[in-house]
Order: sequence, then structure tokens, then C-alpha cells
Amino acid sequence: MAQTWTPNSWRQKPIQQVPDYPDLAVLDSVEARLAKYPPLVFAGEARRLKSALANVAEGRGFLLQGGDCAESFAEHGADTIRDFFRAFLQMAVVLTFGAQQPVVKVGRIAGQFAKPRSSGAEKQGDVTLPSYRGDIINGIEFTEEARVPNPERQVMAYRQSAATLNLLRAFAMGGYANLENVHQWMLGFVKDSPQAERYRKLADRISETMDFMKAIGITAENHPSLRETDFFTSHEALLLGYEQALTRVDSTSGDWYATSGHMIWIGDRTRQPDHAHIEYCRGIKNPLGLKCGPSLTADGLLELIDILNPANEAGRLTLICRFGHDKVAEHLPRLIRAVEREGKKVVWSCDPMHGNTITLNNYKTRPFERILSEVESFFQIHRAEGSHPGGIHIEMTGNDVTECTGGARALSGDDLADRYHTHCDPRLNADQALELAFLLAERMKGGRDEKKMVVNG
Ligand code: PEP
Ligand code: CO
Repeated sequence: MAQTWTPNSWRQKPIQQVPDYPDLAVLDSVEARLAKYPPLVFAGEARRLKSALANVAEGRGFLLQGGDCAESFAEHGADTIRDFFRAFLQMAVVLTFGAQQPVVKVGRIAGQFAKPRSSGAEKQGDVTLPSYRGDIINGIEFTEEARVPNPERQVMAYRQSAATLNLLRAFAMGGYANLENVHQWMLGFVKDSPQAERYRKLADRISETMDFMKAIGITAENHPSLRETDFFTSHEALLLGYEQALTRVDSTSGDWYATSGHMIWIGDRTRQPDHAHIEYCRGIKNPLGLKCGPSLTADGLLELIDILNPANEAGRLTLICRFGHDKVAEHLPRLIRAVEREGKKVVWSCDPMHGNTITLNNYKTRPFERILSEVESFFQIHRAEGSHPGGIHIEMTGNDVTECTGGARALSGDDLADRYHTHCDPRLNADQALELAFLLAERMKGGRDEKKMVVNG
């Protein structure tokens, strides 16, 4: 039987990926301070996201989730946030048009700071230091001093999240996301972008539709859905002391919510059913993500679903599958069959990034064609199993970085050194992200036509 849950009951459980803080008294005092700070998001917003995701779970909608692998203090700035938001909106518009379904927009942003690591130590030459664990924990510089976990960084991450969220809310609600601006979102395209022409054509069609709607009296002034958009935040709930400090009771429902972000997810390395991360997440009411990698068995998944979503509530749980282009066909069907057999309600999302990382010229990179290949297989498998391919989870930026190879501009291994800025895993640049969105839109259109044929045939 489930034991009583409290925001700190995870502390009684075994735990992975814990930073080695030198002074626990300082850590305690930072957590106590954070516990008094205002929440970053509200329970009502998390519930709205959950109900949007419930529609996706039922086959009516698509989840677009993306952003940095790791946000950094150094890259914090208005331009970075705007460029990300613009690239994300472009993707969302392309997908909405392709799928003719609502697209639920969730950023990996405003809280995505803590990173799980395969190894606790990093070796460069003869020197071995503790691994970098994300800016909320320690510094990326390869020095002994930077790598010491510093609790004060949690306060900096909190403040950066608040400032980021503030700007995102303004963009989403204050006019920037107005569909009438669909052409202005072109401003970010780099010169000779292969996606620009494709996007311009789509923007023309949207503008034409808007002109028609205006003629019959539907305008951005009288229809908020044309001038505003719902944008939500998410991150991996890895640093549980920070999460606990921001866990609050919702006065309306009396339920506990993580107020560090709208949706939080459990990483592939910390999903042991009897461990701390699952314990923390089961007690909060936010929508949850669960990373599903090759080592997850069908029974293991069902056990986790029962712990995390005992009421089988649609929208509560998103399964973020990250197998790798060459493994997805082996692992995804068995998980889909188990979930379908047991009638569990989930959103199926595809993370085509984390199973496709390779090393090239000493850089961690991801070949764009492998990312596409995993996405293609994900769609094909769901079509074959009769389930809904409900979303995509990607690492991306709005900037013109050179971190993943391939794409329409055919970035090579030799290009990686040019603008390799990520603090952790390689991200799609704005062009590659949009190219992926166009491809997805085509797949979704294909699925729609197939469904129509079945209905008509
Ligand atoms: C991530 O999403 O950045 C990550 C670490 O993923 P995973 O837990 O799937 O490896
Ligand atoms: Co990552």
C-alpha cells in the first residue's frame, strides 16, 4: 500500500545523482529561504496544461516540448529568450497547420538547470574533477573551485527562471504571439536559410486566412486565441531539495503542486520505482513526464504508471521515449502493447535526441538524419499499433549554433567547432528545428489522410 506522502518523504528513500555539497548547513539555509519565495507558476496553470494534455492522450492534439539541454547563467538574456520563443512559435505554427490539431506548447525553459551525469567525475589530461551538474549546482569551468557544488546557485537559478518566465508570459500574452505577426517571426532567419522560403509560403497562407476571417468579422481584437497563446514551462525534477522548497499547497484544491514549472519530468537515470525521484513526483499534481529508455521493461513501465498515475487520469503522464534510431523498433512496440492492453491513458512523445548522441572530432553531436529516422519510426510504429503519436521532445535553440550535424545546410563534423555553445548536449539550431517541424507536419497530414480513407472507405 502506498505510504503517506509529504513534500519531504523522498528523503527517506535511496537516491541517485546527488551533488556532494561541502556544507549541509548552508544548503539547509538556502532551501529554507527558497521555501519562502513566491511560486514561479500557479496550480491553475498546471491544471490547464493537464487538461490540454488529456486531449492529446485522447488523440486530439500534439505536444511540442523543447528547449535547451541545460540553461546557463552565461547565456541568460532577452535576445536568447526571444530567439528561442520565435523559433518555437514557428515550429508550432507549422505543426498546427500540418496536423490541423491544437499544438500544446511546452518549453524546456525557466528551470531546466540540473543535469544527471553518467559519471560523477570528468578527466582531462591528468586531472580528474567532479563532473559539471548544471548551473544550479556547480560551474562548467574545468577548475577545482568551479566544480564545488554551491547552494547559492539555486537562488540564482530561481531568479533567472522568474525573469525568463516573466518575458515569456509577456511574449505569449502581450502581442508578440499574435498570429497577425506570422510574417514578422521571419526576422530571425539567417541569410540563405533553406527553411525561409517554405516558411514564407506557409505564412502567406495563414495571412490570407486571417484576411478572410477579418472580412467576416473574426479579428485578433475580438478573438483572444488569435493574439495570445498558451505557453508552458518544464524541466527535469532532478534536484529534489530545490523542488521541495518550491512545493506548495494549492489553496483552491488543497493539493500539492510543484511551482518550479508547469510540467516536470523524471529522467531515464532516476526512475527506479522505490527511489526518491519517483517518490517526490507521485505526490504532486502537476502533469508529469517519464523518460523511457531501452532498459525499461514493459512490467517496469506498468509499475511506474501505477505509482505515478493510480487514477489513470488522462493528461497526468507523458511517456517520453528515447531509444535511439536503431533501437526504437525493438523497444517501442512492446511498451505500446503493454500500455494499450492495460488501458492506461498516456501521451506518447518521442525524444529523438538522447538515444542518438555520438562523438565526432571530440564533440558530442547528433546526426540530423538519425533524429529524423527515430521520429519517422515513432510515427510508423504508432500507426501500426493503432495508438496516437502524441508529441515530440527536443533539445533546440533559436540561435544559429553548430552542434548537431546534417540538416538542409549539411553541417559536417568540421563545422562543429564554429559555434558549439551548449552547456551539455548538442541542440538543433533554429533551421534544423524548423526543418524537423515541416517533416513532422507532413507525417501528421499523412496520418490524417489515412484516417479519412478508413472513415470513407
Ligand atoms: C535530458 O533530457 O536532458 C536528459 C538527461 O535525458 P534522459 O534522462 O532521457 O537521458
Ligand atoms: Co540533454
